[in-house]
Amino acid sequence: MSRPTLLGARAAEEDDRGVKRRSPRWSDEPADPAAWTAANDRLYTRFARLYDVVVRVAPVWRRWLRTALPDIRGLRVLEVSFGTGWLLTQYAGRYRTDGVDLNAALVEVARRNLARAGVHADLHQGSVEDLPYPDATFDTVVSTMAFTGYPDAAAAAAELARVTRPGGRLVVVDIAYPRDRNRWGTLLVDRVWKPLGDLVRDLPAVLTDAGFEVRDEEVGGWGSVHRYVATRRSAPGGGHRAGPSGDV
Ligand SMILES: C[S@@+](CC[C@H](N)C(=O)[O-])C[C@H]1O[C@@H](n2cnc3c(N)ncnc32)[C@H](O)[C@@H]1O
Repeated sequence: MSRPTLLGARAAEEDDRGVKRRSPRWSDEPADPAAWTAANDRLYTRFARLYDVVVRVAPVWRRWLRTALPDIRGLRVLEVSFGTGWLLTQYAGRYRTDGVDLNAALVEVARRNLARAGVHADLHQGSVEDLPYPDATFDTVVSTMAFTGYPDAAAAAAELARVTRPGGRLVVVDIAYPRDRNRWGTLLVDRVWKPLGDLVRDLPAVLTDAGFEVRDEEVGGWGSVHRYVATRRSAPGGGHRAGPSGDV
């Protein structure tokens, strides 16, 4: 149920226990996805070195990324949008690992970081919407802090589903509204993440539509950073979304 707030700024909704919470304001998809991606790509090219430094010196960022690690399973792993490659240096040595990122400068930064760490992964420049692999190639696909930058959520989710084997998993760490809509987490989303360019969507719904069963957990940022562990269904349709402690 929803109704306007007194300020008229944001609708309210009630949860199962009748507690009123402010409704999330999901982002609209950009009108021109190609222009959106090109603008972001220029920014990443310009700030690739700075981004590398930020990831090295910001423990909170690494802590959020690290939450993806316990859910990596199987033999073949793909990380999409690996950025500076920091997370790859933490696990790629234990799996047959591939990586795809759109930004050429970051691919080079990541190559250097992996070489320095003595870890191997096959890194490629490419788009999440057109991954250079056959269907059902990977046991686990990882994407951290990147989905909110993809301008066409459905297209990205469909391609990630395509390369994940049935029963395999997609592990996404990214920005979303805190489930309890607490003040600080909601402010972070509305006043920091979105102005920085993050497209905040109902990701469990997007991933369910793409053929996954989704577990959604909050891992930081007052509930504004989520880890989604999405298991690829064997057959299309019939998916469900599990809550924080729900098994998939
Ligand atoms: C905020 S950075 C996150 C990097 C890294 N995963 C991390 O958490 O530090 C977003 C990354 O997504 C990549 N990216 C943006 N659009 C992409 C696309 N369409 N396909 C693949 N990667 C993309 C960017 O080049 C960048 O490396």
